[in-house]
Amino acid sequence: MRSITVLLSLVFIVIFFNSVYASSSNLQSLPLCQSCHGDKLQGNESLKAPLISGLSQWYLYRQMKNYKDGIRGNHPQDIFGQSMRLSIMSLSDNELQALAEHISTISVDKQPQSIKGDIETGKFVFEHCISCHGEFGEGDQTIGAPRLTGQSDWYLYQQMINFQKDIRGNHQDDLYGKLMKDMAYMFNEQMLRDVVSYISTIDQVDNKESVK
Ligand code: HEC
Ligand code: HEC
Repeated sequence: MRSITVLLSLVFIVIFFNSVYASSSNLQSLPLCQSCHGDKLQGNESLKAPLISGLSQWYLYRQMKNYKDGIRGNHPQDIFGQSMRLSIMSLSDNELQALAEHISTISVDKQPQSIKGDIETGKFVFEHCISCHGEFGEGDQTIGAPRLTGQSDWYLYQQMINFQKDIRGNHQDDLYGKLMKDMAYMFNEQMLRDVVSYISTIDQVDNKESVK
């Protein structure tokens, strides 16, 4: 009986150290991510690197894979997408998985508002986003639409413009990007400023249950 207990303890110790070792080696690129995305991965506007902490694991992984495979960040005018693509190109899919898992668990404060649009018009425009991104902009995995609430307004706006100008969502294998691109065409630049301003007003604390 005693030897079984000792054996079981050893097995657990091995499993424990293996998992610690595996996860720390798979997360060795985290400081690289922080160098652009910020200490808490809360985003850095001067480098146009968005907030990534707390985004869903499935969305983080898909985007990293897309950059790595040249599905995103491939357009000659997309210098920021290219900087991201170069940063991630040498990482294995296992590392990307581990990073996505880890980053999805980090939570940060609401980001400051930098774009001032018309909230009422923005609310009207947002009606067209709900079917995919959810009532509170919380995202919907079945559709593949990410969470928008909590993301910095300057980044949301820039991505809408990128979709409109075929800088993002232009690759034939980018099925999710195409879905979104068709939406971005429907609104002019002022309406896009309005909708991102409205998204900034959706209170994450009040909607904690729905916004994950
Ligand atoms: C050289 C600066 C730089 C480094 C290093 C970097 N990124 Fe990025 N990242 C960016 C920029 C800039 C963007 C936005 C690009 C765009 O507009 O498509 C971005 C976008 C992303 C996105 C897409 C977010 C979204 O909402 O669609 C993810 C996910 C991401 N980065 C994860 C990472 C991870 C994980 C690492 C570390 C392995 C990393 N990045 C390292 C600059 C960087
Ligand atoms: C038909 C479904 C659909 C509708 C409607 C829709 N989206 Fe999207 N949206 C998506 C999908 C899918 C993605 C993910 C694209 C990808 O994987 O690159 C996305 C991505 C985005 C992104 C990029 C987020 C990031 O982190 O990089 C923004 C910004 C965005 N949508 C805003 C909007 C706004 C604002 C509206 C309403 C005006 C809207 N979307 C309507 C499906 C939709």
